[in-house]
Amino acid sequence: MIKVTTFACGGIAIGVLVSHTIADGISLSVFHKGWAATARNKACEDVVCPNFDASSIFIQNGAYSREAVMTALSKPCKSGRCIVRRIVFDASAIASLKTKATSSSVQNPTRVEVVSAFLWKCTMTAFNGTSGVQRPTFITHAVNLRRRADPPFMESSMGNITWGTGALCTAEEIDLVCMVSKLREAITKVNVDFVKNLQGNGGFFKLWELLKARTGAVSSMAFSCGMDYIGFTSWCNFGAYDIDFGWGKPTWVSHVGATGDSETVFRSRIYLMDTRSGDGIEAWVLLEKDDMTMLAQDQKLLNCLRFFGS
Ligand SMILES: *[C@@H]1O[C@H](CO)[C@@H](O)[C@H](O)[C@H]1NC(C)=O
Ligand SMILES: *[C@@H]1O[C@H](CO)[C@@H](O)[C@H](O)[C@H]1NC(C)=O
Repeated sequence: MIKVTTFACGGIAIGVLVSHTIADGISLSVFHKGWAATARNKACEDVVCPNFDASSIFIQNGAYSREAVMTALSKPCKSGRCIVRRIVFDASAIASLKTKATSSSVQNPTRVEVVSAFLWKCTMTAFNGTSGVQRPTFITHAVNLRRRADPPFMESSMGNITWGTGALCTAEEIDLVCMVSKLREAITKVNVDFVKNLQGNGGFFKLWELLKARTGAVSSMAFSCGMDYIGFTSWCNFGAYDIDFGWGKPTWVSHVGATGDSETVFRSRIYLMDTRSGDGIEAWVLLEKDDMTMLAQDQKLLNCLRFFGS
């Protein structure tokens, strides 16, 4: 669904809603870039066209029903009422996080790794504050499989071609350096062999096994309230601010996930976006109300920020 809103000042907002089954963040950005280039009357060969070959790489298997797969996908976590806050890290905040997070195991932590690990840490502290117990917290981070395949798939391959790689942090391990290295390790696991496993005729079975294993591990602990969960997605470096419909670059590109009133499947989620200048990160954080109130009082977080808002 696409909604265009025009304002009295002459500004335009374009809202897009898409099913995750059909498109992930990369697909959506390819669609936007192709659409904008077409609107600017670019010559056909300069327009990036969506490519629909993915279904011949990742082959569907009729033995597993869509319902069963969706249940496996959505089972791990409890649902609940979330509120959304936008938290902005500017370049200097990120530089100081990188200094703190660098270690012999990860010598060059990325912008996304340090902000993710820092928010993971602050959110765990908030969970402890509201519940009075420091439970282990499992995170998933969505990894773009296109770049990890050999040869890489085209960026313009449409579909949900991501995998949420997981990492667990216990109460004793709450430390930025440790969390960055756990995250790096989890992302590194999604390598050429991992993607190869999911391709071809046997791929769907492998995906099913992976989903079951992840769901089993998470749900047994989550349902007994033994563990907390945060789902991370990064849309950084997707070139969102290069999308030009002919009126110049966008003033603001945001990811408005679920709104305050909606019931979300995953209780806690964090979406990372580039800031307009390209060197900062705008985090859209969805947490349960009490957890958010607690997070908003975290002095370490507030000290590091340009903006903590609604
Ligand atoms: C969790 O909070 C309690 C106080 O409610 C505190 O004593 C404890 O040190 C906290 N645990 C961690 C790992 O920060
Ligand atoms: C799309 O992929 C992500 C990452 O693997 C997963 O969390 C999500 O549930 C998938 N969504 C659908 C609708 O298939």
